[in-house]
Amino acid sequence: MEQELTQVIIEFFKNNERQGPGNEWATTHALNLVEGLDKVEQILDIGCGTGAQTITLAQKTNATIIAVDLLSSFLKVVEQRAAWWNFQDRIQVQEASMQALPFEEDTFDLIWSEGAIYHMGFENGLKQWYKLLKTDGYLVVSEISWITQERPHELVNYWVNNYPEIDLISNKMKMVEQCGYLPVGCFTLPREAWDNYYHPIIKQIAAYFGKPTTDTPTQSFLDQLIEELIMYQRYSQFYNYVFYVMKK
Ligand SMILES: C[S@@+](CC[C@H](N)C(=O)[O-])C[C@H]1O[C@@H](n2cnc3c(N)ncnc32)[C@H](O)[C@@H]1O
Repeated sequence: MEQELTQVIIEFFKNNERQGPGNEWATTHALNLVEGLDKVEQILDIGCGTGAQTITLAQKTNATIIAVDLLSSFLKVVEQRAAWWNFQDRIQVQEASMQALPFEEDTFDLIWSEGAIYHMGFENGLKQWYKLLKTDGYLVVSEISWITQERPHELVNYWVNNYPEIDLISNKMKMVEQCGYLPVGCFTLPREAWDNYYHPIIKQIAAYFGKPTTDTPTQSFLDQLIEELIMYQRYSQFYNYVFYVMKK
């Protein structure tokens, strides 16, 4: 069943520009908070998906980038994109789990992870990836966060069921410090970043409605996506993805 669901996810997302909310402006804005960017040589992009942010990282730096994901189908697209942009010498892909990354300690000047750290949890990711960074290296992640003090029960229930680590930005920043980093900055994603992710999905879901499926993994995957879209439609003023930039 798990295998079938993974296949559904791959088929649904592999032709999409992105597998999570984001845009070029946000990636660039976060990069600009990294001091000494011109001296960054080694970047690790964790949970890279089909590599939208990987290409931006290559365009805005002179670094070598290792793009890691669990799904080889996504990594094939990253390779195609890298070749199209002529970055094949600077972008390497590696199929690996973010929980067991096959790299030496003190390897990277910059670790990047857009919309993916939730797969292992914010605190866990911050702690485990710390050792892979060189001293003074930077970690940049985007993470779903509350942006208001009060929020409706329905929304709280949704997130507690889906990602209980969702929290206020101030608490996330405290966690950054507790994990041994210096907080450098944070900012929320603009609406366009969510549109980049959701607009293609809405079209894809509409296409499925024409041919109702009896395939259970597909149906439950679509149901989850629709619930997520409804939450965003009703309550987007209460939460957002936030970029957290921190230094070891
Ligand atoms: C929400 S998507 C974000 C993708 C991309 N960074 C973006 O913003 O478009 C999360 C990505 O993490 C990958 N992923 C999930 N669990 C993983 C794991 N344990 N190790 C490595 N990658 C994982 C998924 O395959 C997916 O590509």
